[in-house]
Amino acid sequence: MKMEQEGDFRPVLRMIESDLGIQSSNYKEDYLKRRVQSRMRMTGMQTYHDYLLMLRSNPPEHDALKKGLTINVTKFWRDVPVFDAIRRDIIPELRRRKKTIRIWSAGCATGEEPYTLAIIAHEASVMNKDLKFTIFASDIDEEALMKAKEGIYHRKALENLSDAQVRRHFTERTDGKFEVRPHLRAYVRFSRHDLMSGDPVASHLDMVLCRNVTIYFTEHQKDELARMFAPALTPCGYYVIGKTEYLSRDFERLYEPVNQIQKIYRKKA
Ligand SMILES: C[S@@+](CC[C@H](N)C(=O)[O-])C[C@H]1O[C@@H](n2cnc3c(N)ncnc32)[C@H](O)[C@@H]1O
Repeated sequence: MKMEQEGDFRPVLRMIESDLGIQSSNYKEDYLKRRVQSRMRMTGMQTYHDYLLMLRSNPPEHDALKKGLTINVTKFWRDVPVFDAIRRDIIPELRRRKKTIRIWSAGCATGEEPYTLAIIAHEASVMNKDLKFTIFASDIDEEALMKAKEGIYHRKALENLSDAQVRRHFTERTDGKFEVRPHLRAYVRFSRHDLMSGDPVASHLDMVLCRNVTIYFTEHQKDELARMFAPALTPCGYYVIGKTEYLSRDFERLYEPVNQIQKIYRKKA
């Protein structure tokens, strides 16, 4: 799409702020444009003006645009009780039967989830010197992965971490942002990977987290994912999905719930 065809982007920015309640200054304008243009292509609109007119009379498109804009949204320790349960219940259980723990953060966006797991891993390793962790982290979005590898975050992304955790695992930069320290980076292996490819990034996994990824997936694609993870998991390995996601009843023969509220399942032995 050429610039002259699209027109003035500022009214769209105002609408994103006022109607969608998304603070546009938190995002690069290019990123917002790309996401809006993707919605324009999907709805057959040629100009920002036409798209805005259509948006005003079309509430479902509001939701679609909002989802499109927040597609990479994530933070450290997102959904505190889930990561507390992983730290408190799951890692100690794995530690009793494993010396090396392998975890996959599938759909890791900009890295906050795998680095959260790295914090949990590091804290567990400090108490058990012979315990090793490998965290595989993958996403389809190259740009998100680049940020993940950079490992530089605004203070806001770290708000669920304690001050001690921030001091221990990040270096504060002169621009006020926080950079992941090398000891955390060492746990995480990033790679580009499409979850729809049907192949896992690794095998013999003790835990797979695939959280808040499947908003756009059909029921069939969601089922295919749950099916693809099963052989990649070790017997009694854990499968963690998003708080608002669910596992269909067909999978009761493959996985059993361990913590139903936090959506933590275990592969049947
Ligand atoms: C909202 S983020 C979730 C990040 C993190 N898992 C969390 O819960 O905070 C969703 C991520 O899923 C990724 N994603 C969507 N479809 C994917 C696919 N087919 N393969 C791999 N990643 C995908 C997106 O690129 C995005 O970074």
